[in-house]
Amino acid sequence: MQDPKKESFTGSKGGSGVKEFIINHIPQCEIFYEGFAGKAIISETLLNCGANIKRIVCTEVNPKTYFDLSKKLKHPKVITWLGDFIKMINRETELGLNSKIFYKETDCFYFDPPYRMDSRSHKREYYGDFDWDDNAHKSFFKLVEMLNNAGSKILISHYPDPIYDEQFKEWNKEDFRTRTRTVTERLYWNFDLNAHSLATTEFLGNDFTDRQRIKRKVERMTAKINSLPRHERQAIVESLLKTYEC
Ligand SMILES: C[S@@+](CC[C@H](N)C(=O)[O-])C[C@H]1O[C@@H](n2cnc3c(N)ncnc32)[C@H](O)[C@@H]1O
Repeated sequence: MQDPKKESFTGSKGGSGVKEFIINHIPQCEIFYEGFAGKAIISETLLNCGANIKRIVCTEVNPKTYFDLSKKLKHPKVITWLGDFIKMINRETELGLNSKIFYKETDCFYFDPPYRMDSRSHKREYYGDFDWDDNAHKSFFKLVEMLNNAGSKILISHYPDPIYDEQFKEWNKEDFRTRTRTVTERLYWNFDLNAHSLATTEFLGNDFTDRQRIKRKVERMTAKINSLPRHERQAIVESLLKTYEC
């Protein structure tokens, strides 16, 4: 069911099926960064479902938006930053140290930047003083390149756009529907999803029916294993743990 409050913010990932689609692409990681957080729907959902992530860092440059998100994300696992994410990261790496010291393969970044004006059907500003021109998108691309070189896992969502398609042509990509399911967005990611466990399997499935199917399958198989004599159950669990590095 869609939450109207979560959906009203332009670009919000609160629309029905949208956060589930994105979260089904987020790998297990130590630190999860949501760079241009807005309502931080993805971080909030990961936090609430107990995803396998040690720390969540959310950055938002608009003080009003930041105030709302920092209130709802008060939790020992979460750090919220008020400020320009690109400048903050550049400041750290400008210290002259290799970016690999700061950012690692165990980090995952999710970016939902302000959309390029050309890709917006109404060509309207959405984020007031905090909207981006093409130079801001270029600075963002540089930052992504630096994080990519450090081996970090990165996901980016944006409206379909030739500049983004060109910039991330080597990456994986898939379209998804947002809002009333009439607006298409594109998710890009720079790693092999099948080579990694997910941060959470809570939303596994393509849609509500598929999610129900998977939930029932998990329940059936768990019940079967639970019904075994204790030591047989132990042998199966040990074998599964040995086979699959979860
Ligand atoms: C597309 S929206 C993100 C929506 C978000 N995914 C959600 O679920 O609500 C982009 C957000 O990035 C913020 N922003 C723009 N430039 C930024 C920057 N340099 N650093 C941090 N946040 C920024 C805007 O204020 C806006 O809230």
